[in-house]
Amino acid sequence: MLRLGQFLLLFNLISNIFSSENCNFNVHYLTSSSQFPSNCSQLIGRFRIDQNTDLTSDQLVKLFENVQEIRGVLQIWNSQLTFVSFTKNIKSITGDPLENVLSIVNNTKMTAVNLSSLLYSNGKLEIRNNQNLNLQKTCSAIHDVYFNYRVITGNSFDCGCEIHGIFKWPQVASFPENCIVLYGDLVLEEAPPPFKVLYRLSSLTKLYGFLRVRNTNLETLGFLQNLEAIESGPEAEYTIHIESNHYLRRLDLIKLQSIKSRNTDSIVRIDDEFCVDPAFVQLLAQSKMKEIQDYHVKTFCEADKINNPSIYCRGKLSAVNDRCNRYIGDILYINNDISDYNDIQNYTKVPAADIRKIQQFEMVFGSILIEGSTLKNVSLPNLREIYQVSDASYDIGYGFKNSVGYKAVMKFRRNDFLENISFPNLNVAYQNMYFLHNANLTKDETLCQTLANQIANVSVIGIDAEYDCRSYLP
Ligand SMILES: *[C@@H]1O[C@H](CO)[C@@H](O)[C@H](O)[C@H]1NC(C)=O
Ligand SMILES: *[C@@H]1O[C@H](CO)[C@@H](O)[C@H](O)[C@H]1NC(C)=O
Ligand SMILES: *[C@@H]1O[C@H](CO)[C@@H](O)[C@H](O)[C@H]1NC(C)=O
Ligand SMILES: *[C@@H]1O[C@H](CO)[C@@H](O)[C@H](O)[C@H]1NC(C)=O
Ligand SMILES: *[C@@H]1O[C@H](CO)[C@@H](O)[C@H](O)[C@H]1NC(C)=O
Ligand SMILES: *[C@@H]1O[C@H](CO)[C@@H](O)[C@H](O)[C@H]1NC(C)=O
Ligand SMILES: *[C@@H]1O[C@H](CO)[C@@H](O)[C@H](O)[C@H]1NC(C)=O
Ligand SMILES: *[C@@H]1O[C@H](CO)[C@@H](O)[C@H](O)[C@H]1NC(C)=O
Repeated sequence: MLRLGQFLLLFNLISNIFSSENCNFNVHYLTSSSQFPSNCSQLIGRFRIDQNTDLTSDQLVKLFENVQEIRGVLQIWNSQLTFVSFTKNIKSITGDPLENVLSIVNNTKMTAVNLSSLLYSNGKLEIRNNQNLNLQKTCSAIHDVYFNYRVITGNSFDCGCEIHGIFKWPQVASFPENCIVLYGDLVLEEAPPPFKVLYRLSSLTKLYGFLRVRNTNLETLGFLQNLEAIESGPEAEYTIHIESNHYLRRLDLIKLQSIKSRNTDSIVRIDDEFCVDPAFVQLLAQSKMKEIQDYHVKTFCEADKINNPSIYCRGKLSAVNDRCNRYIGDILYINNDISDYNDIQNYTKVPAADIRKIQQFEMVFGSILIEGSTLKNVSLPNLREIYQVSDASYDIGYGFKNSVGYKAVMKFRRNDFLENISFPNLNVAYQNMYFLHNANLTKDETLCQTLANQIANVSVIGIDAEYDCRSYLP
């Protein structure tokens, strides 16, 4: 599918071949003697309206009547214009991507500008110091076309506030309070600004740019407690990048509900060992990010540090409420008596009452390990999502510990009678599943395909050494 940008590029190329020299104006200062041939729907050049422009709003509208594209730059500087509507038919402004292709500066009387046709621009937008200019009706067009390639400041309504450069002291001394929508990448590195300034970010609900927190001494990102959505720009390699913050204990992004990028290859990287809200892991896993680089083991936070603790249950299965369907914790039926090949002397017995409890869960935040059991089949009909952020481990006596496996959500091993597993509604497994040496299950070549087709966000489905289902995964 051709994207709009590509289409317009193609359109430009084709129309350039046919556009004659008389649509090219090089550097042009607009005055009452300016004239554009009526067949020039695309103007080429650098066009400026300024204090010397002796044209009224209406005369400009007439002059630009047929203009739909500008290839170059349009500048409106220091003019006496009040209402800019000559721009209302302009669909695209293209030029040097590093330049302000549309620049509206120091127009003290200007109150409105009409960009209602604008669909595409490859450059940047500058709208500064037009004290009476209210952009409210133009915000969505500006957002769609320029996103965070913009400098909009000093007008009566700016469509959000902006950050350019790292969020550090003293550069951000004048960062506004009550900023709700922020355009630009939010980068905290090394020493963060003083607490008071940092907490000005707590009014943010939307960030249009990426979030990077690196090498800081922050213990929490709680100053972003009201942030609901992050959307990074077309060039963002990372949408969220958290790394080397050795004091970070939790994120506290308690309202975050949406993680997006305008770059389909953008990734999330969360390093460090902090505790996470189960809802955050769910959001991450189910975002459209190309990849989640979730390095270092983490934990699920304690109840008093998560957003909605009452929807989860924890602790002994026998004590879990019958209505609870989101369980936080590891469900481990270990067998210390097994290796991969010897005969098992003492099989693990999983109580039927426990099975019923496990079967009631729709979401599990932890590992399910069943080793050396007598089970013939395991069916978890309600399970839809399972997440693990750590490596669950358990004592095997004499001070030794075994681990389930790095971020293993499930591990079934040496269940000599197990012929059938079934998770018909499971569609998210974050991250690894292992089925090792389980009777006939091991020989089921279709199992890989079945699980891989059904389950997203899983990194590894390992079925014995022979079947690493990774090749089946998308
Ligand atoms: C516009 O019209 C002039 C005169 O008829 C012609 O020379 C020119 O090629 C036309 N330009 C475009 C872009 O059609
Ligand atoms: C706008 O006004 C400021 C302050 O008077 C001045 O420094 C700046 O050069 C002006 N910008 C333009 C584009 O004229
Ligand atoms: C902008 O121009 C379009 C097309 O003429 C018109 O429909 C719209 O109402 C104008 N918008 C404003 C805010 O004046
Ligand atoms: C996780 O799964 C969801 C639901 O199928 C999917 O939309 C998303 O792209 C996946 N995310 C990753 C990182 O694979
Ligand atoms: C069998 O395993 C159970 C549970 O691990 C343990 O309590 C019991 O002592 C074991 N029995 C023998 C004979 O090893
Ligand atoms: C085995 O399958 C039966 C029938 O589907 C089911 O009732 C039972 O709970 C399953 N057992 C386990 C351990 O899942
Ligand atoms: C495995 O269990 C599922 C669900 O209980 C059932 O539909 C299927 O027939 C069983 N397969 C085998 C080989 O027993
Ligand atoms: C499991 O293997 C045994 C021995 O090969 C066979 O008799 C039995 O039918 C198998 N069961 C299933 C469900 O494939």
